[in-house]
Amino acid sequence: MNQRIQTLCVKEAHDKKTTKPHTLPIYATSSFDLPSIEDGMEIFQDPTKGHLYARFNNPTSDAVAAKIALLEAHNTGKNDAWGIMTSSGMSAITTLLLSLLEAGDKVLTQGNLYGGTTELIKNQIPKYGIKAVLTNLVDIDLVQRQLERDKQIKLIYFETPSNPALDCIDIKAIADVAQAHDVITVIDNTFCTPLIQQPLLFGADYVIHSTSKYLNGHGNSISGVIIGTTPERYNKVWSTMKLLGTNCNAWDAWLVNNGMKTLALRMEKHSANCLALSEYLKDHRAIESVNYLGLPGHKFHELASKQMKLYGGMMCFEVKGGLKAGIKFMNSLTIGSLAPTMGDVDTLIMHPASMSHLNIEKSIRLENGITDSLIRVSVGIEDIQDLIEDFDRALMATLS
Ligand SMILES: Cc1ncc(COP(=O)(O)O)c(C=O)c1O
Repeated sequence: MNQRIQTLCVKEAHDKKTTKPHTLPIYATSSFDLPSIEDGMEIFQDPTKGHLYARFNNPTSDAVAAKIALLEAHNTGKNDAWGIMTSSGMSAITTLLLSLLEAGDKVLTQGNLYGGTTELIKNQIPKYGIKAVLTNLVDIDLVQRQLERDKQIKLIYFETPSNPALDCIDIKAIADVAQAHDVITVIDNTFCTPLIQQPLLFGADYVIHSTSKYLNGHGNSISGVIIGTTPERYNKVWSTMKLLGTNCNAWDAWLVNNGMKTLALRMEKHSANCLALSEYLKDHRAIESVNYLGLPGHKFHELASKQMKLYGGMMCFEVKGGLKAGIKFMNSLTIGSLAPTMGDVDTLIMHPASMSHLNIEKSIRLENGITDSLIRVSVGIEDIQDLIEDFDRALMATLS
């Protein structure tokens, strides 16, 4: 049919001869053409059959989610692992908790989570009748007693290592106790990425990431991902995600995919730099204490060696002279930027008490080692000698 020029303006003129793109394209479309009404009905029922509407799923974010799922499941035997990308790490947590829990249920968790997650679990989720129980997840006997006593606990949510105090929790021990009580386990694996730690291997049910951090690695995407196993669990979580509207847009997912191409190289370098910087700092005369899992004397060094392949790029320390000296140090750095994020290629400094954990009760902060003078460092991939010299100069400024 010979169409008029106004019609040709609005219709797409796809090149039907094109071959498969070598790198992942960004699908900047809100909807997808359906071959027929029958096909549309099938895809509406089963999102793995195709794409309909980008809030439900998008080929770009699906491809990235599938890649992260492959990494989390690599050599674990979990061949049915799947991923769903979300608009942020926080939306991954919200989506998962709201899909798995209902009014009357309780979440057992630790006090030293990322501050935003503590606020979500303590202040927001309870509005929907889901209560938070804070405990010491390092103490497995205590967890066992709590699960025996309180049958309303349906889910254990944890981070290991914790942010920022780097406490490690025995994933296998928690997963075993949880399974014995029919309780779900969810782990935030943001600090490690699957290159360092694979919670599915130790029996965890779900893994979430803020992909805004190491998986993207370049500080230019806000996004998250939920990883789980079995098609039934996928349908449950996907149905909640599409109705909450917590989907990840194609552009942010694409930026994560780009970053992931160098993830293996970056995690090696972050870990090597972090170890070298920690070793240097621990003997510095301006330093009060250094907290890095890779240091042999660390109280969680042994557990970290058991469940992590590397010790990661995160460390924290206290400067002699408390908060005042710490502020002088942070303001004197020239390489490390003061930024409330982590996992980027460049070194990032953060003061948890005034930034990520500002809204957390002081007593909970202190109980979990987040003192007013604690400084967190996300060590980048710069030349290590430049980093050491910059830290040394800024530390010496605190002594003058
Ligand atoms: C360990 C951890 N989990 C989750 C989040 C939340 O991620 P997002 O900022 O992508 O929502 C953060 C943010 O800093 C984090 O550090």
